[in-house]
Amino acid sequence: MKTYRILFVCLGNICRSPMGEFVLRHRAEEAGVGHRIHTDSAGTSGWHDGENMHQGTQQILAQQGMDNTGFTSSKVKRSDIDHYDYILAMDDNNLRDLEKLFGKHPEKLFKLTDLIPDSGYDHVPDPWYTGDFDETFRLVDSASMALLKKLDLV
Ligand code: 4NP
Repeated sequence: MKTYRILFVCLGNICRSPMGEFVLRHRAEEAGVGHRIHTDSAGTSGWHDGENMHQGTQQILAQQGMDNTGFTSSKVKRSDIDHYDYILAMDDNNLRDLEKLFGKHPEKLFKLTDLIPDSGYDHVPDPWYTGDFDETFRLVDSASMALLKKLDLV
């Protein structure tokens, strides 16, 4: 059976993309398809390499009854384009930086919000600046469910 490797990417890899990594993993496990999905996350900047995820991301995951442990921030690597089936960018800057590194791969490399075209959002707002981890969670969660549907896993 096909398994999918999914990489979430943001700028710092401490707020948005770790949320994606842990939310999608949770939703896949909940749907009984945890063995079909491997999730990771990375940042375009490397500014927080080696750190844990942001306290706000830890808190919202815990509030939702989701795991938030064992995370270490890291930077996107050149080999990621070959390793992953999907690389999901949180905003246009992330996508631009990734396309500079990897070239254009519209089938595997696109914005997370492309999965939820009716959401009214064209990017996932960054709670590092907005302070609104709930808004980010809602988007990341609906996009994760949309990805599971797209892959015919729910
Ligand atoms: P993230 O948020 O890209 O969602 O992890 C940010 C985290 C840190 C910084 C910017 C955005 N920073 O400037 O350090």
